[in-house]
Amino acid sequence: MLDLKANTKEFIFKQSHLLSLQDYTKEEIYKVLAKSLELKEEHAKNIPHPILEGKTLAMIFTKSSTRTRVSFEVGIKQLGGYGLFLNSNDIQLGRGESIEDTAKVLSRYVDGIMIRTYDQVDVLNLAKYGSVPVINGLTDIYHPCQILADLLTIYEVKGRFSGLKLAYIGDGNNVSNSLLIGCTKVGMDISIGCPKGYEPCSDIVSMAMKNSKTSYSKVKVTNSAIEAMKDADIVYTDVWASMGQEAEEAIRERDFAPFQVNSKLFSYAKDDAIFLHCLPAYRGREVTAEVIDGPQSYIFDEAENRLHVQKAIMALLMGEGGS
Ligand code: CP
Ligand code: NVA
Repeated sequence: MLDLKANTKEFIFKQSHLLSLQDYTKEEIYKVLAKSLELKEEHAKNIPHPILEGKTLAMIFTKSSTRTRVSFEVGIKQLGGYGLFLNSNDIQLGRGESIEDTAKVLSRYVDGIMIRTYDQVDVLNLAKYGSVPVINGLTDIYHPCQILADLLTIYEVKGRFSGLKLAYIGDGNNVSNSLLIGCTKVGMDISIGCPKGYEPCSDIVSMAMKNSKTSYSKVKVTNSAIEAMKDADIVYTDVWASMGQEAEEAIRERDFAPFQVNSKLFSYAKDDAIFLHCLPAYRGREVTAEVIDGPQSYIFDEAENRLHVQKAIMALLMGEGGS
């Protein structure tokens, strides 16, 4: 079993933000996971951990959310702080105030900003112009918090990353982009099976390929769902139409039909493969009820882990001394 604590002992966490997992080293990811496990254990034992007492996290949303919103809000509260929910329509950002001014103003009031939005550049600019930690709660191209929760779930079930293969079946989107980065940072093989024309962006695939050289992992992108699925230890899928792509739903439903994760496709994975999905899920589309509600599915542990990893991220970024 991989010892996350031993691997991050004496290690000083130097990151100021969580914008993309590509900015993090393997050790920094391990540190977040080790801290998540520590906080998860304390929480289970009702041991209070007011690491962020008196601190405020602003949470800006320009897209819908259940898990991200609730887990950040509950998470900051459990750390002794306060979460301020800001729907972009209710603040001046929604009426065209610049990200630059929003970043500078919010930095005078709060100790950290979490943002879910469309354009990754807005997240980068919040970090550039603000003076408090910024956490990416999903953009059109990345979803780093989700992948940290996925890695924690995989670690809890499998006890390691190297020597494992994750098969992502579906759209080359924010989740698969961040999986490409996350898996290759920690040394896990990743295989993406998607229809032609729905591959992940080529520069992110190149980034993952580069990472895989140092972490000794493999990256594959194929238009064959079966090929991607073969001998997988983890099977992952996501919605066929992401937020912002509602107009393409009908055409995507047609194009993605052969990529549905059903029992037949799942049977190409290893016998002890686990199933993950970032959620929300649409049964009968990207995954059948048989698979997502079956004994190999860990989707609710995965969703719960959002809380623990995000508490760890907030503690490391907004707490004193990155410990
Ligand atoms: N997985 C995830 O980010 O869920 P929400 O959209 O509900 O936040
Ligand atoms: N790819 C999905 C993820 C939702 C958590 C979306 O962006 O809508």
